[in-house]
Amino acid sequence: MGIPVPQRLNCIAVVPQGLEQAAAEELQELGASGLKTLRRAVGFQADLASFYRAQRRARLPFRLLRQLGSFPCRSREDLYWGVQRCIDWEPWLKPKLSLRVDATGSAPGLNHSHYSALQVKNALVDWQQQRWGERSSVDLEQPDLSFHIHLGGGQATLSIDGSGESLHRRGYRPRMGLAPLKENLAAGLIRLTGWDGSVPLADPLCGSGTLLLEAACMALKRHSGLDRSFALEQWPDFARTLWEQETASAEAEASDRALPAIVGNEMDGSVLEDARANSIGAGLEQVIQWQQGDCRNFVPPEGRGVLVCNPPYGERIGERDALEPLYSDLGAMVKERCSGWSLWLLSGNPELTGALKMKASRRIPVSNGGIDCRWLHYEIR
Ligand SMILES: C[S@@+](CC[C@H](N)C(=O)[O-])C[C@H]1O[C@@H](n2cnc3c(N)ncnc32)[C@H](O)[C@@H]1O
Repeated sequence: MGIPVPQRLNCIAVVPQGLEQAAAEELQELGASGLKTLRRAVGFQADLASFYRAQRRARLPFRLLRQLGSFPCRSREDLYWGVQRCIDWEPWLKPKLSLRVDATGSAPGLNHSHYSALQVKNALVDWQQQRWGERSSVDLEQPDLSFHIHLGGGQATLSIDGSGESLHRRGYRPRMGLAPLKENLAAGLIRLTGWDGSVPLADPLCGSGTLLLEAACMALKRHSGLDRSFALEQWPDFARTLWEQETASAEAEASDRALPAIVGNEMDGSVLEDARANSIGAGLEQVIQWQQGDCRNFVPPEGRGVLVCNPPYGERIGERDALEPLYSDLGAMVKERCSGWSLWLLSGNPELTGALKMKASRRIPVSNGGIDCRWLHYEIR
């Protein structure tokens, strides 16, 4: 270990839009405090153990950043000098490490995030040149150090990404189906349903199975960030023993308990094969039953449970017209065969969901890859 670690870290989780509150709750369960929901982000405080725990276990964020410094910023010069002076860079900025900088927000003379990022990068590499006569190279794909500068309210906040590769990549999904949900969005949607592994779960239009795979992993505590590396392992205050303890305790939680039926149904045989391959990749081939068929013929497993689905919503007008009968038939199917179940449906088009002829009891706005969607909840009588 190189340098002392602060007692409390100020951190930011970058999360899908609409999942801010759910992500804050997940982080709190992992030991974070001082949670503050922002747009597509959650601010929080954590000691090093909780920060490591969240990296290894949090399913909802894309990435977790740690704040390095904050300073007043009302001009380009403030930004340049503020970056150079906000922390002792000596242990952090070894020239052999590559870097990238991203920027958000604005300040006087700093209205373009690309320019702001460039200004920060220049401040960092100029500091290196002065100190060592050499500088880091910029690597936009796989940088060792990925900085983020946020400008706003006369302040600049400089953070560093501890995750590296996006946390939504779980490593179990070699195959993607047609329009897969991102794994962290799927995990957030499951969390919003409150499904806890005590009743059956089914997805009658399961695609590559992301909702069910995430649900099963959550119920069995197969934590998401175990078989991968993290950018924070390169940090000068990396605490290997604590990291290994957190990793071991996350691994030890994995359970093999029997779950109620989890059923994925999909019409397209090759997409269903993707789902099956993904469940093998996730070690869940014994946990989820995959079946090929039209959702119109779907018969739910015994008992009352939770239906989740993400039917196609069509990008073009013609496609949408053609999809109306699917929604209408889906509504008829659940009313006929799923009495007592609850249905959660991700909708990108209110006209199509109107064809279900059902009244939603909750409508939660979420963004699916930039498309404004609603996670709709129906109690089926
Ligand atoms: C938006 S995708 C679901 C993506 C899925 N959530 C994932 O993460 O991979 C919709 C899926 O519904 C399937 N589908 C369309 N019509 C269907 C039908 N009548 N019965 C069953 N599946 C159908 C499509 O083949 C497609 O895989």
